[in-house]
Amino acid sequence: MDKKTFYITTPIYYPSDKLHIGHAYCTVAADTMARFKRITGYDVMFLTGTDEHGQKIQRVAEASGASPQQYVDKIVDGIVKLWELLDISNDDFIRTTEPRHVEAVQKIFKKLYDKGDIYKGNYEGWYCTPCEAFWTEHQLADGKCPDCGREVELTREEAYFFRLSAYQDRLIKFIEESDFIQPESRKNEMLNNFLKPGLEDLCVSRTSFDWGVPVDFDEGHVVYVWVDALSNYITALGYLSEDTSKYEKYWPADVHLVGKEIVRFHTIIWPAMLMALGEPLPKKVFGHGWLILEGGKMSKSKGNVVDPVVLADRYGVDAIRYFLMREMPFGADGVFSNEALIGRINADLANDLGNLVSRTVAMVDKYFSGIIPKPSTEGEHDAELKELAVSTPRVVEEYMDKLQFSSALTEIWKLIGSTNKYIDLTMPWVLARDESKKDRLATVIYNLADCIRIISVLISPFMPNTPALIWTQLGMDHGQGTGWEDIKEFGKLPTGMKVRKGEIIFPRIEQDRPQRQNTKEEEGEAKVEEKFISIDDFAKVDLRVATVLECEKVEKSKKLLKLKLDLGEETRQVVSGISEFYSPEDLVGKQVVIVANLKPAKLMGIESQGMILAASTPGDEELTVVTLLERIANGSKIT
Ligand code: MSP
Repeated sequence: MDKKTFYITTPIYYPSDKLHIGHAYCTVAADTMARFKRITGYDVMFLTGTDEHGQKIQRVAEASGASPQQYVDKIVDGIVKLWELLDISNDDFIRTTEPRHVEAVQKIFKKLYDKGDIYKGNYEGWYCTPCEAFWTEHQLADGKCPDCGREVELTREEAYFFRLSAYQDRLIKFIEESDFIQPESRKNEMLNNFLKPGLEDLCVSRTSFDWGVPVDFDEGHVVYVWVDALSNYITALGYLSEDTSKYEKYWPADVHLVGKEIVRFHTIIWPAMLMALGEPLPKKVFGHGWLILEGGKMSKSKGNVVDPVVLADRYGVDAIRYFLMREMPFGADGVFSNEALIGRINADLANDLGNLVSRTVAMVDKYFSGIIPKPSTEGEHDAELKELAVSTPRVVEEYMDKLQFSSALTEIWKLIGSTNKYIDLTMPWVLARDESKKDRLATVIYNLADCIRIISVLISPFMPNTPALIWTQLGMDHGQGTGWEDIKEFGKLPTGMKVRKGEIIFPRIEQDRPQRQNTKEEEGEAKVEEKFISIDDFAKVDLRVATVLECEKVEKSKKLLKLKLDLGEETRQVVSGISEFYSPEDLVGKQVVIVANLKPAKLMGIESQGMILAASTPGDEELTVVTLLERIANGSKIT
């Protein structure tokens, strides 16, 4: 049987300038969805491209001394490279200057003209060049463009018109009765602000510039850019060309992803054009929010853009993709900041996911000579973890089908959190001390590794590079058990494979890194400053020797021990999170090192007057308390 198809698009971007992280946002979302649909068994068509015509492009090209074609070629080259860098898996890339597109747009225009849906008249109205939009007098906001607030120009010329008004009632009915426009709030906005007040016919040709698709039956006219641009969604599939097999296979689109300011074009002009052409309508248009920087929407003219190439280079592609999809719900605006990005990388990626993998691999290494053990003895906490693991794929599917990327990731991270918690609850290092518990230890370790297998597949549409790194560490070089149906079952990870400790997947990032883009020299200086502290800084820490007089477990806490310490002149009570590694009797009588001038703090309601020093491996799977080579008087200062 043929696979079900899924056709997803991004807007085609204006190659007037380099793209910024706001543009990357939509493309990453579309890519994530495309990847998700592919792994869940669909035959996917994922289209992106560039919208290269129009007066604005013509003007910037002229200002730079290049022809429009030379100008766009260069920018488009950069856009294609950007999508490669961000691992965008588009199946096609349409440029509106390509012959396949130009010819099809001419045929579309002619078809509509022959049908009587396009007619010739005179145009008078207000034109916003940056937005490529016409406005009527009453649509203007204080005489300016209602979208961008910039100056508009009064234009009067002979022009072709599209009978948009004729489709008003059909459009209202269609939009009201379907969930074509998502999210719901945008649907009401379109109905109340544009459709119900009444649609005027749309001017669809221009004569005042020539950088556009020529109307082939009337010299001097070029096709209005939105008619040219919107058509890309079908011209890329070969609509009205010699080979229409792709059009037949994939149209209508399952979803057009677009930014909220262009929902209007996609939910009024586009369906009306398709109705006029007698073609099926796309199933959904999803209007997403904007990435905002301090000072408003990112835009080159405001000078507040963030370059995705710099970000990817600095933090890694998967980390950026994760952040974009996690930080804000897809329909809403969200503020982009370096702090938020670094916060997510450190907490979610380095800590939660990275540590889970490195701790598990380290334990396979340490307790089973690096070989994934066979599970046998079931125990407490297993059933709960397994249930969560195999049910998460279904919940993720539900959220993805609603394009709720952030919620899907939240569910995946709940599983990661529970898997980490399972380590704390089962305490493998305690099991390891008792030979009779080896079988149980094997089960615990296997369950951890198998959860990581499931997690690696769940994250793959969002972070396409990370799964392979995880698989290498777990020894699953052939991606065994990583089909979408495989992860709805527990126990599909083969046993007997050799793990390979690898590099840390997501290294932590220093929070206090400078925000602006540094030069190489500055980066060097900053690193030197970060790496060294002065002797005065060190002298601020009062380190003292102390003997453990008493030690007991803190009730209801898995991690805390309460210690009474002799510091010579005084005794102190310290609470320390080392209970997983030491029992109280291991420590009584030992000399330890305490940070004596630490501000007292309460841990589970118990005051801790200082902190004892310990060394731990990166994933905290091993820990040892710092002691002294020989005994020395309590209270001695460490210098
Ligand atoms: N060429 C038209 C689209 C034609 S589609 C048939 C266009 N191009 S654009 O380059 O200006 O914008 C492309 C997309 O990028 C839009 O969906 C827009 O919302 C999105 N974004 C531009 N800046 C953005 C942010 N700061 N944040 C999120 N998306 C942003 O419009």
